[in-house]
Amino acid sequence: MSSLLREAPAILSSATHAAPAPAVLAEDVTKRYGEGVHVVDAVRGVSLAIDPGEIVALEGPSGSGKTTLLSILGCILTPTSGRVAIAGRCVESAGPAELAAVRRRSIGFVFQQYNLFPALTALENVAYALQVKGARRDARPRAKAALEAVGLGDRMHFLPRDLSGGQKQRVALARAIAGNPPVVLADEPTANLDSASARRVLELLRQLAHDRGHALLIVTHDVAVRAFADRVLVMRDGRLVA
Ligand SMILES: Nc1ncnc2c1ncn2[C@@H]1O[C@H](COP(=O)(O)OP(=O)(O)OP(=O)(O)O)[C@@H](O)[C@H]1O
Ligand SMILES: [Mg+2]
Repeated sequence: MSSLLREAPAILSSATHAAPAPAVLAEDVTKRYGEGVHVVDAVRGVSLAIDPGEIVALEGPSGSGKTTLLSILGCILTPTSGRVAIAGRCVESAGPAELAAVRRRSIGFVFQQYNLFPALTALENVAYALQVKGARRDARPRAKAALEAVGLGDRMHFLPRDLSGGQKQRVALARAIAGNPPVVLADEPTANLDSASARRVLELLRQLAHDRGHALLIVTHDVAVRAFADRVLVMRDGRLVA
């Protein structure tokens, strides 16, 4: 194990021996963008823990810091201060290579803007992500299975430009879940879906959490997501207020 990926001290000190580590742990996390008169305190002292198998919705007005917090928990963005542990690994002092390893092993991320490669088909987008995560020969069959699970079996060979917004969203979801990561972070995963597709996506997410024990944090304005979550967190001006 890398010296930079230490066991999270907070977990060791607070948990009993029998209790599993939270899948996601944040302690007093802050994020300040910019400097001088352009400073934005996007996240201010957020602490949270999400257990394996738990579905948590994160709500809040536009600009309240939801995407910033999700990016920090997803090890895409470094916090200004505070600590983050993913699946029991403390990541705040990890270097770029170690963070990339945590992302590959432990995190599936659904971005607000999809982030699909425009020149790759749906199948290639998902298979490529699996290859980056270390899958070799079985990347294509696993990618196919993930696309079928999100109802896109008949669109596998389409390029993103030939898919609707909701279909692109489902490709992004297939990509996030294909590697079976213990933590799935999703930014507005149902925002561009019709209600039938949204229900299908939510049912899939529920199976991931409750049958396979994945931890889910879902940024959303969708009341359907709120209703299906185990817990709802609300952010305002960078703080968790509920
Ligand atoms: N790279 C950046 N540089 C400077 N400020 C930023 C940057 N990214 C975000 N911000 C600011 O941080 C604050 C929080 O932004 P964030 O994207 O996290 O909000 P959000 O809750 O996800 O909003 P939305 O619901 O509109 O997606 C906003 O005021 C935003 O302008
Ligand atoms: Mg956002």
